[in-house]
Amino acid sequence: MKLWLPLLFAVWLSAVSGNINRRASSSSSSSNNNNNNNNQKRPNIIFVLADDYGFNDIGYHGSQISTPTLDKLASDGVKLENYYVQPLCSPTRSQLMSGRYQIHTGLQHVVIWPEQPNGLPLDSPTMADKMKEAGYATHMVGKWHLGFYKDEYLPWNRGFDSYFGYIGDREDYFNHTNTYMDGEEYLDLRDQNGPVYNETGHYSTHLFTEKAIDVLQAHDSSKPLFLYLAYQSVHTPLQVPEKYERQYTHIQDSKRRSYAGMVSAMDEGVGNLTQALKDKGLWDNTVLVFSTDNGGARRGGANNFPLRGGKSTLWEGGIHGVAFVTGGSVALKGTVNRELIHVTDWFPTLVGLAQGSLNGTKPLDGVDQWDTISSTPTCCKFPLCIVVSAEPNTSPDKNVWLFNITADPTEHHDLSDQMPGTVRTLLGYLQRFNQHAVPAVYPPLDKNSNPALRGGVWGPWQ
Ligand SMILES: *[C@@H]1O[C@H](CO)[C@@H](O)[C@H](O)[C@H]1NC(C)=O
Ligand SMILES: *[C@@H]1O[C@H](CO)[C@@H](O)[C@H](O)[C@H]1NC(C)=O
Ligand SMILES: *[C@@H]1O[C@H](CO)[C@@H](O)[C@H](O)[C@H]1NC(C)=O
Ligand SMILES: *[C@@H]1O[C@H](CO)[C@@H](O)[C@H](O)[C@H]1NC(C)=O
Ligand SMILES: *[C@@H]1O[C@H](CO)[C@@H](O)[C@H](O)[C@H]1NC(C)=O
Repeated sequence: MKLWLPLLFAVWLSAVSGNINRRASSSSSSSNNNNNNNNQKRPNIIFVLADDYGFNDIGYHGSQISTPTLDKLASDGVKLENYYVQPLCSPTRSQLMSGRYQIHTGLQHVVIWPEQPNGLPLDSPTMADKMKEAGYATHMVGKWHLGFYKDEYLPWNRGFDSYFGYIGDREDYFNHTNTYMDGEEYLDLRDQNGPVYNETGHYSTHLFTEKAIDVLQAHDSSKPLFLYLAYQSVHTPLQVPEKYERQYTHIQDSKRRSYAGMVSAMDEGVGNLTQALKDKGLWDNTVLVFSTDNGGARRGGANNFPLRGGKSTLWEGGIHGVAFVTGGSVALKGTVNRELIHVTDWFPTLVGLAQGSLNGTKPLDGVDQWDTISSTPTCCKFPLCIVVSAEPNTSPDKNVWLFNITADPTEHHDLSDQMPGTVRTLLGYLQRFNQHAVPAVYPPLDKNSNPALRGGVWGPWQ
């Protein structure tokens, strides 16, 4: 019950930012590029999602962690500096794959626990379904976390031609096990054909990078490629081969030191991936998006400075994410984009780039942002620069704050007493969005999920 309030607000908050977004983009030029560039070669689309990656953990935000590859890729492309995600994992991933807010998919309560019979609803196609329908080869490597209790929910039944990774919420980076509710550890590593037993000891950042490169190498370049690489990095547990941590001996906090090493391993992995794209001759016709799924977990070594709060909170540190767009198909180099962009926007944006069709989806909450991303930034005239945020336990009597994020990005000057009319207007928005919310789906943990009943491997049980 404790989590209900902030999550409801999280939904509302995303709904409000989506609304602002929609208005910003409908007032700009056409947001539909589906019909007018049929003659252009469709780009390969690579989506790299980092897990729990903090705002202050990428070199170009002034981090003490060194990320030369990510910095170079971002400065060769477009940095998205006003980019929003959800404060937690399944909500963000569900929005990415469905283009819909979690208030419309029932996934607004925390995350999907591995023992829960729950998943991203099957009633609307995923981004991968749409890419595949548009003629793309579609592959996924890494963390799924959108449900697996029935076969239908697994990535290879949701539009991906192939899959390699783990389907649950978290696990050990080396032995690829996740804990069942009784404390026992079971393997969570598989491809579309079944469990993978022989990768124990293979650090997931390396393993997933290598599997993604295998996908590229096997890819028939006559087709465009959609690859979704969802790294385990840099979620807890804090585990990293010693050589990556060694460059950070000057960091005294041991968690931060391990975390920094994990980031460096991921940075190297993205470098290997982009090199493989170049070697295969794909890079010049590629759009690569790099994004975090939510803010960094402060107890897990991450840092969101100068933003307030972190993962699982509604302060900026939980939802204002790191992201950039790069690759040979991105014409604007060295651009900082400060338009409001939301994770639900990727679905229409990337399906639009693929010249795919948005038919057959339930109503999308995101908007096509490609024009915004690919035009020279005119700085940021938002209809509203104010966000309502809420976090319980700060003070028992207070759950609404009002900040002007433009003037006060670190959220220290609460304006709610000064601007009650604005508070009412924004709460009105939230209420209107909430009228469209479907009930949360949050079933009890199911003992039939116990991997001990199925050969000691996590997998579908219904
Ligand atoms: C996996 O590694 C963790 C430590 O990181 C350990 O607690 C666990 O027992 C290991 N599980 C198996 C099945 O080896
Ligand atoms: C595990 O098995 C697969 C399939 O046989 C193989 O491709 C892969 O190289 C093996 N991995 C290791 C570490 O031996
Ligand atoms: C990147 O490639 C180098 C050279 O093959 C390799 O040593 C390194 O382990 C790779 N790193 C990752 C994260 O895959
Ligand atoms: C959507 O369009 C695709 C191709 O344009 C077509 O194959 C598919 O049947 C359409 N789906 C619906 C629900 O209209
Ligand atoms: C928010 O702050 C910016 C920068 O100081 C200012 O231009 C803008 O008018 C403020 N917005 C509101 C709604 O007060």
